[in-house]
Amino acid sequence: RGSPPTVVVIFGASGDLTARKLIPAIYNLAHDGLLPADFYLIGFGRKPIPDEEFQKIAEGAIKEFSRREPTADVWGRLAPRTLYVSGGYDEKAAFDRLRDRIAGLEKQINQELQPLFYISTPPTVFAPIIRNLGASGLASRYLGQRHQSKVIIEKPFGRDLASAQALNKELTDVFEEPQVFRIDHYLGKETVQDLLVQRFANSIFEPIWNRNFIDHVQITVAEQVGVEARAGYYEQSGALRDMIQNHTMQLLALTAMEPPVSMDAESVRDEKVKVLKAIQALRLDGPDPDVARAQYGEGLIGGKPVKGYLQEKDVAPASATETYAALRLSINNWRWQGVPFYLRSGKHMARRVSEIAVRFKRAPGSLFSESERFQLAPNTLAFQIQPDEGMSLILNAKIPGLETRTQPVKMNFKYATTFGSNTPEAYERLVLDAMIGDGTLFIRGDETERSWQLITPIHEHWAAQGRNGLDSYASGSWGPKAGEALLATHGHSWREP
Ligand code: BG6
Repeated sequence: RGSPPTVVVIFGASGDLTARKLIPAIYNLAHDGLLPADFYLIGFGRKPIPDEEFQKIAEGAIKEFSRREPTADVWGRLAPRTLYVSGGYDEKAAFDRLRDRIAGLEKQINQELQPLFYISTPPTVFAPIIRNLGASGLASRYLGQRHQSKVIIEKPFGRDLASAQALNKELTDVFEEPQVFRIDHYLGKETVQDLLVQRFANSIFEPIWNRNFIDHVQITVAEQVGVEARAGYYEQSGALRDMIQNHTMQLLALTAMEPPVSMDAESVRDEKVKVLKAIQALRLDGPDPDVARAQYGEGLIGGKPVKGYLQEKDVAPASATETYAALRLSINNWRWQGVPFYLRSGKHMARRVSEIAVRFKRAPGSLFSESERFQLAPNTLAFQIQPDEGMSLILNAKIPGLETRTQPVKMNFKYATTFGSNTPEAYERLVLDAMIGDGTLFIRGDETERSWQLITPIHEHWAAQGRNGLDSYASGSWGPKAGEALLATHGHSWREP
């Protein structure tokens, strides 16, 4: 796994993601010796900034956000290769300047450079950037060769099916699909990749990974943070589009997909698309809908009183934006027929925790006395995606003593204990994979469209309802009644992770 000589160009160089994630990720790759000897980073943005100033900004970002301090050795080598080009995203001449600057670097080192464009701007300028990459010839550089141009595109990838299709069209007018890397940073998380290893490197799971043994699956992506300073974006998005359409849907696809024939990008993504296609359309209203939404009210986070969503800065006084969304999905195939998959995600919830909990059917009959206090727990296999990464299995064990009483016990595997805690960040893995040209952990065009096809009717329905039927929950709680009802009507309840 090696990358050819590369120049990474970040559009949106002064953005939050660039400082918090992208520059630190590149620095850590440099530190670990994973960047090619000939590597350049170019920031592209509207503000005119000299190279030296961008280098200072980058160094500041590394100091603040990287898991490593910039050293004289590593940063000393990377800093002079950190450059800046300014221009408008819709200004063709600026892209010509960028092209010439790259050509100048190639001349200097007498080497061809693989261009990797990272589009990390607001979505309103995705299309002009893509078009100008095409018009300037940057998109088609070295096409068909190992170091052909590549483009990473950040979320949000559209806001409904039609806009996702339009964006796919913009991309494929200029790039070929293997050049395109649609990012979902959840796929870069170690624990998410481990899900595939657990499922397909262990023989004990496959025989029980189906409707005969599994009762239902719960996928939780809970956050303790609120909308923070992002209302401008979040008001247009909401939990369904911000988290469910992408991150939780990806977790579901990896949990439920069939074993791929190999781990190459196409085989894995074929299986993900197949399982997404098997998800049935959702019931949006009536007495037992498959969907729930709510907004956080006031409450306590970490013991401190916090505002409700409607009181947050830049939120419309009668906003109907949901900060919590939950779905009940049915997968209509041989493996999963009759096994509900519950998905939930919310802000201002009790804890920051993401997990996938696979709940098995109860033991048949009961040989042991069950009372209120000593009840057999259903076996549960939980993948802790974050924080406190690990995996646990809940089993029933005998409480020592002369009577036969049972108690649920946990078998735990913790990443930090076994592997230490300095694991790579999601963006490190993903930037490196794109440089190498491996799309396995990126979203294919048809995959994002299928996911939007499921989600679009829900947000259209909610938009039509406005605040009607919008539930609320106290900040710092595990979510609204509507979210509980989704499971209760099927005899289930959310597990407290
Ligand atoms: C982003 C969302 O995609 O994921 C944010 O836009 C959210 O609203 C974030 O906070 C969560 O990511 P992580 O890695 O902190 O779980």
